[in-house]
Amino acid sequence: MDKKLTIRDILKKKEQREKITVLTAYDYTFASLLDDAGIDIILVGDSLGMVVLGHESTVYVTMSDMLHHLKAVKRAVKKSYLVCDMPFLSYKVTIEEAIKNAGELIQSGGANAVKIEGGKEVCEIVKRITGCEIPVMGHVGLNPQKILKMGGYFVQGKDNSKNIIEDALALEEAGAFSVVVECVPEELAEEITEKLKIPTIGIGAGRYVDGQVLVVNDMLGLNKEFKPKFVKAYSDFYSRGVKAVKSYIQDVKEHRFPLDDNVYHKKS
Ligand code: KIV
Repeated sequence: MDKKLTIRDILKKKEQREKITVLTAYDYTFASLLDDAGIDIILVGDSLGMVVLGHESTVYVTMSDMLHHLKAVKRAVKKSYLVCDMPFLSYKVTIEEAIKNAGELIQSGGANAVKIEGGKEVCEIVKRITGCEIPVMGHVGLNPQKILKMGGYFVQGKDNSKNIIEDALALEEAGAFSVVVECVPEELAEEITEKLKIPTIGIGAGRYVDGQVLVVNDMLGLNKEFKPKFVKAYSDFYSRGVKAVKSYIQDVKEHRFPLDDNVYHKKS
């Protein structure tokens, strides 16, 4: 059995120019699948608000939602490094609360690190949490938790690229061990990747980053409506699922399930 990945293994990958692979998971079954397949990092993303809980955005996700799903994922993870998102309002109210919540995701949820959205404005928080020996992954570019102020999801950094570079550098300076770069032009993500010593993990950020992350439901084709340009669907789980359920319905109605193989007998 391969050994469990540590933060050192993740950092070494950038030095050795080896791409870092990241996918989200929100439950035991999917986490087992990703861990068995050999993914480097499993992220319990607050995208669970949309893909699992059916909310419109991530702002409805609470600490208790995150903990519930993180614990299920943790039970499955044997090798992958486990990162958990800090949800909306769990780290910006007070620093004390941010540290307490980050600590809960580690101590009670079993995460190896937490992820925080934002740039310069969250650096003091990142500094204090890493100061408590909790590894922090940053998240710059598009920050979905800012949706109410943004009014929509747009590619970032087309005209404010300097700000995003400064955000990423400030997060590194504050002690983040890696940074997600979301929905920015490829050229900007490349520049950030060259400037940072810590790994960059891109989503909608093109090819020249240190690793890639996708929402697992999107890459498996489990999401029937959401198909942005940056996603590649590696399967069509949704239509396969519908097909399988339709076959089951037909089999039950037409007495093809259960068959003798599927039943218990008094003597067998
Ligand atoms: O919540 C999430 O799934 C994320 C990734 C897509 C980066 O933050």
